[in-house]
Amino acid sequence: MEGTMRKIAFLITCGISIFLISCTAFAEELKPIQLPKPQMDGGRPLMQVLKDRSSSREFSPQKLPLQVLSNLLWAASGINRSDSGKRTAPSAANWQEIDIYVATADGLYLYDAKPHVLKPVLAGDIRALTGHQPFVKEAALNLIYVADFSRIGRGANEEKDFFSAADTGFIAQNVYLFCASEGLATVVRASIDKPTLAKTMKLKPDQRITLSQTVGYPKK
Ligand SMILES: Cc1cc2nc3c(=O)[nH]c(=O)nc-3n(C[C@H](O)[C@H](O)[C@H](O)COP(=O)(O)O)c2cc1C
Repeated sequence: MEGTMRKIAFLITCGISIFLISCTAFAEELKPIQLPKPQMDGGRPLMQVLKDRSSSREFSPQKLPLQVLSNLLWAASGINRSDSGKRTAPSAANWQEIDIYVATADGLYLYDAKPHVLKPVLAGDIRALTGHQPFVKEAALNLIYVADFSRIGRGANEEKDFFSAADTGFIAQNVYLFCASEGLATVVRASIDKPTLAKTMKLKPDQRITLSQTVGYPKK
């Protein structure tokens, strides 16, 4: 009996070790993704896109091609005036305090608008932790909007919450419009276990999750 228990304990230890070793190897493999130049000559007429804008909660697991991901992130909050570094979405006092994290099956990335690059943050699939609804783990990606309060010059946290929520809304609407134009499904979400997600993402105390937004191809 004791021998069997020892064997089971040994097998569990081996299993955990293999899992940890493969996680470490995987973490080392997660590399920055240089996004291709966004295509700015596409898209359907604005009035038709507004007519089609809607929330959808049924996603296919199909991945987004890199060019579509590039276009999506540029539409969301890319730099549209290189001289000033200003973005496709407005932000209070041009604080640009909202960062877009991208959770895919491969890992978690941070969108860096200036070089138009996805920077690796965390290896592994955290999509399931980005919201309470079951579709979050199936869709190609979940955007996580994170406000960095340290970039907001002044004011009480209540004011910072207000500016961050407003500024997130503009980005989320850009994503809605891009998705409507491209035939992608999307839904912006507040239903998130924010403390658990923030801990998993290793956010600093000044970084606050505002909303998340699922994006993917519609379920066939
Ligand atoms: C701030 C905000 C939070 C939301 N949170 C969720 C959510 O957690 N889960 C969800 O399925 N939809 C969420 N939604 C989407 C709304 O339910 C949706 O926009 C609304 O029902 C209207 O539908 P429409 O977007 O298709 O016009 C949220 C929308 C906003 C603006």
